[in-house]
Amino acid sequence: MSGKNALACDLERLTEHVEELYGPLAEADPYRLRFHLMPPVGWLNDPNGLCYFGGWYHVFYQYSPFHPEGGVKLWGHYRSRDLLCWEKLPVMLYPDQPWCVHGAYSGSALIEDGIMYLYYTGNIKYAGDYDHITAGRAGNTALAVSRDGIAVSAHELLMENRDYPQDLTCHVRDPKVWAQDGTYYMIQGARTKSGQGVILVFGSEDKIHWSYRNRITTPEPFGYMWECPDLFELDGQWFLLCLPQGVARQGNRYQNQYTSGYFPLYGDFRGSCTLGDYEELDCGFDFYAPQTFHDGRRRLLLGWMGMPDAEYANPTVKNGWQHCMTVPCELHNVGGRLVRTPAAELDGLHGRTLAPEEAEVFDLQCRVGGNGRILIRGCAALEWEDGILRLSLLGDCGAGRTVRSAETETVRQLRILADTSSLEIFVNGGRQVLSARYYPEPGAQGVRLDGVEDAVIWEMKAMQILPGKF
Ligand code: FRU
Repeated sequence: MSGKNALACDLERLTEHVEELYGPLAEADPYRLRFHLMPPVGWLNDPNGLCYFGGWYHVFYQYSPFHPEGGVKLWGHYRSRDLLCWEKLPVMLYPDQPWCVHGAYSGSALIEDGIMYLYYTGNIKYAGDYDHITAGRAGNTALAVSRDGIAVSAHELLMENRDYPQDLTCHVRDPKVWAQDGTYYMIQGARTKSGQGVILVFGSEDKIHWSYRNRITTPEPFGYMWECPDLFELDGQWFLLCLPQGVARQGNRYQNQYTSGYFPLYGDFRGSCTLGDYEELDCGFDFYAPQTFHDGRRRLLLGWMGMPDAEYANPTVKNGWQHCMTVPCELHNVGGRLVRTPAAELDGLHGRTLAPEEAEVFDLQCRVGGNGRILIRGCAALEWEDGILRLSLLGDCGAGRTVRSAETETVRQLRILADTSSLEIFVNGGRQVLSARYYPEPGAQGVRLDGVEDAVIWEMKAMQILPGKF
């Protein structure tokens, strides 16, 4: 007997229907990516519930199949044994419970005793004359349990807004859960009534009953809302990742609509702790809502290669889809700073080496001395000169994106992962990263290299995405 209610059954049929109907249009888009996860149709945002479960990497994501510019959110689902060959699985979470009727929002996975516990935010946004900050919205904390990693066997509402501290607005969301020292911890992002972004810490003895313990923030407000928190220890240092909203641009910092970054955390997150200086995780146009997880060997990160409320566009919308994930990256603690490098598995997609004039979808690795410039497919210029790194998208290829600059240490080494319509640029072994979508003339080829030594350019082959066999 199916465990799904009537709403979930119909939403499942509708999802399958739009995927069948509009999938071919999306698939025929020349900007469809070769080695990045995308929505089959419609819209994708945050990665959710990232985990390694029963020998599979699971990637869930915020999915709106019914419209390429977003709508109610479901949890779409891919899994892979090797991060290269993926299976597309049925949607894991529909907004089919009374506490999440306007979206199964972001959340995380806890794996224990062969069971997958998915904690997520049940979003409710009432129509009406509300500000949707202090009224007209609910951020419920919910749990979905899966025994096979493919379908949900039980749902439960865990907390409502009235269970959170009373000085908060309705904006509380994105639970990240883990087990530590025989207890369970959950952090959530929140906005106070006085307009400060904070992280809430909850504890539980049984994964079901949660109580508020304390909060983490900066002494002075740093933005009005912090979304999608993540907290972990890496080689002896704790890091708090979050998305502060409402931080004004300062020179070359915080150039995007919203910033995505981290604070080193000193002390114990459960009580007395302080945050060090905030660092942005990416200096490109399109990077948001990263989530990390440990696969038993290393801490991996995936992010959304997009930006909410951005002024720029993606021409893929006319073909019925929008957005993608970053490649999976490994995180390292280098002298107290987070450094990220593409997961080694990606080398498995290397094809033959290319001459610069042939490069289109590629992995370029080179050494650099002094100032220099790389022009990619005639329309994306990466320049580094006297401590400034600059990515310019020329003509129409940025679809509204123009330029991003960052202060940089001496550039010694570059790695550029270029897909049909994305760039991920890793500077000095991932000490700085720039992620961006771009839209060159389909078929345009070639990189022009100035001030670059020992460049090797591999063709990147396509990942496989197969219908799930289970
Ligand atoms: C971040 C975010 C989350 C929320 C989700 C909704 O991009 O706004 O805070 O849970 O997206 O899709």
